[in-house]
Amino acid sequence: MTVSAETLRLGVNIDHVATVRNARGGVHPDPVDAAMMAIEAGADGITAHLREDRRHIRDDDIARLKATITRPLNFEMAATEEMLKIALEHAPNAACIVPERREEVTTEGGLDVITHRPRIEMIATALRAKGIRVSLFVEADQAQLEASAAIGADIIELHTGRYCHAEGSERASELARLARGAGIAADLGLECHAGHGLGFDTVAPVAAIPQVVELNIGHFLIGEAIMLGLGPACRKMRLLMDQARSGGQISA
Ligand code: PXP
Repeated sequence: MTVSAETLRLGVNIDHVATVRNARGGVHPDPVDAAMMAIEAGADGITAHLREDRRHIRDDDIARLKATITRPLNFEMAATEEMLKIALEHAPNAACIVPERREEVTTEGGLDVITHRPRIEMIATALRAKGIRVSLFVEADQAQLEASAAIGADIIELHTGRYCHAEGSERASELARLARGAGIAADLGLECHAGHGLGFDTVAPVAAIPQVVELNIGHFLIGEAIMLGLGPACRKMRLLMDQARSGGQISA
């Protein structure tokens, strides 16, 4: 299957702008300003994770993002009643259900959809009824992907953390696992996203997996914003993604 560069979207996660803001309290730097800057630099969407402990993004950030940004909002949330209520209130374009507690995590780090199926299915059904696309952050594991499809998820986001942390041949086998997972997801009719831990040196091989249509990237870009500026960091990431997608045909 040939997939053009345009079909790979960049979602910029602005959580850690809020981490820096919260280190001193107050309003600076503002994650909403950062989101607009990322969009101007080519981000196709903005991701924000409202954690149960509100360690970075806060409730009013979600309201302000929803009111301000000109690209889709991907709301990351735990599978709780509290987060469901907030998601239904703000109606983001998509809600990505992520594990926040150790017992919700599979052996490798994604959401354990099999063990927690009743709760996740209840939340997913309520979100979909409101027109919110449901994404599940899972490992590239066949059984987890099948469970995700069975509960009616629209999207799965493959956890790229192990791939990013691995080195040498282990990284190659983690990449192969992601590619297999993306193929399984597509065969199950699931839209395939990927993210966690991606940076300039790890993004290209994941961007080249044809079934992956969106990458969500946060910590590295916000860190790199200190070095390059947020706009240039997003533009460089976009270029690396597009180059990888088109087999290296786009030049800087
Ligand atoms: N995707 C999901 C589902 C996540 O939970 C996170 C981290 O919040 C990311 C992507 C982005 O990860 P990172 O900040 O390491 O780029």
